[in-house]
Amino acid sequence: MYWEKELETLDRNALEKLQLERLTKSLRQAVNAPCYGQIPEINNVIKSGLKSIEQIRELPFTSKEDLRNGFPWGFLSADKREVVRLHSSSGTTGNPTVVYHNRHDLESWANLMARSIFSAGVRDTDVFQNICGYGLFTGGLGFQYGVEKLGCLSIPAGAGNSLRQIKLMRDFGTSVAHAIPSYLGRLFDVFKDEGLDPRKDTRLHTLVIGAEPHTEEHRQRIEELFGVKAYNSFGLSEMNGPGVAFECTEQDGLHIWEDAYVVEIIDPITLQPVAMGEIGELVMTTLDRQAMPLLRYRTRDLTRFIPGACKCGRTHRRLDRIAGRSDDMFIIKGCNVFPMQIEGILLKLPEVGDDYRIILDTMDDQDEMIIEVEVKKEWFNGDLAFLNNLERHITRLVRDEVLVRPLIKLVEPGSIPKSEGKAVRVFDHRQNKI
Ligand code: COA
Ligand code: AMP
Ligand code: ZN
Repeated sequence: MYWEKELETLDRNALEKLQLERLTKSLRQAVNAPCYGQIPEINNVIKSGLKSIEQIRELPFTSKEDLRNGFPWGFLSADKREVVRLHSSSGTTGNPTVVYHNRHDLESWANLMARSIFSAGVRDTDVFQNICGYGLFTGGLGFQYGVEKLGCLSIPAGAGNSLRQIKLMRDFGTSVAHAIPSYLGRLFDVFKDEGLDPRKDTRLHTLVIGAEPHTEEHRQRIEELFGVKAYNSFGLSEMNGPGVAFECTEQDGLHIWEDAYVVEIIDPITLQPVAMGEIGELVMTTLDRQAMPLLRYRTRDLTRFIPGACKCGRTHRRLDRIAGRSDDMFIIKGCNVFPMQIEGILLKLPEVGDDYRIILDTMDDQDEMIIEVEVKKEWFNGDLAFLNNLERHITRLVRDEVLVRPLIKLVEPGSIPKSEGKAVRVFDHRQNKI
């Protein structure tokens, strides 16, 4: 059992009262961080005392840019000796965004994770295979500790090596697995190539899918192919990682844990709250983090609250699936990429010309990132050895930066069609292959 019934079913008044208490505490903790300590609005709110949760709007927003500017310690609110782990988000230009945790933070995160997967019907009798990057990616250790807290037998399989994933599933009777939805197409094809059918040849009954946008149709297709129920998991490193919002067994929106976060949805242009049920940008404030509380963090994810109550009895509001981003970040193979990261690499190379474009496509069952790069006239002399070396060099630089191996295609200067107005750099032709 991992059902924090009292917290998960608090009525609105009691939930807001709890939020107010926790926010007051969080603000006091936050101003220990150099970057927050110097902001007058935060100190003013602390001085005058919080009377309602709406007063959160008197606080300034925090952006990814702010976090990068405060790198490495500017948002640390606790003594360094207390910090026991850091995670860092993929997909930043320049300094990475780093989040620090003390023991309390890790315990709180593990609770949220355990609560989340329980809400999706996972139990301690399940065998849970986590097909996700470990290390700095939060989906690895984030799920790991939650699954252990719930009491499942965990298989920390990590990302990659589909044949081994299948063998692990069959050897140990995996009943639940967590993976990004776009990888499951590849995994299904490897099952097929091996003459296996996941519906008959595994004990899978549940897949947890998340970390990247996907449609309802994609979810249904995954459910059909694998013979499972698939539940959406949403999170971001700045708010811990997974365990922020999760679908319960009703599969009707993702409960966002409001005892741990104050959630706002704003118009990304006017920065004002949108009406209930309308799409806007998700803004979040941590309520139970000590080493690094974050205030009004602009996630850039676009979504909406689903009005009304959920049949499961949980009272924490539900988010609709993510509808897009208010910036140009995209996700490939579970790794976040900003086009500026690629541009930053290319512009430093003397051989590279003025133009490039990024094409995202599905090839041989896998999503791939193809980067077409114009080579300067004086270098484009038909010397294949030189071009091969340059291709390898760019591949290496991009892989080191974004953690995904790109396919580099060097092209003659002037051969990339010019777009009208603002240059369009990313062309997404990926299909939900499965
Ligand atoms: N999850 C699991 N496996 C993945 C994957 C993903 N997101 N993306 C690709 N793979 C698999 C591929 O299928 C391939 O295995 P296979 O040939 O046995 O089927 C293997 O990983 C390598 O794929 P390749 O396309 O050569 O990858 P790459 O070198 O471009 O990228 C990865 C390397 C896959 C290791 C890197 O993209 C990664 O770590 N992704 C996981 C990110 C993640 O877990 N994100 C969630 C964070 S919460
Ligand atoms: P990271 O900080 O690397 O964990 O990446 C977090 C980002 O991944 C989020 O801000 C979203 O853009 C995206 N993401 C995570 N989970 C989901 C999901 N379930 N659906 C859509 N996008 C998601
Ligand atoms: Zn519910």
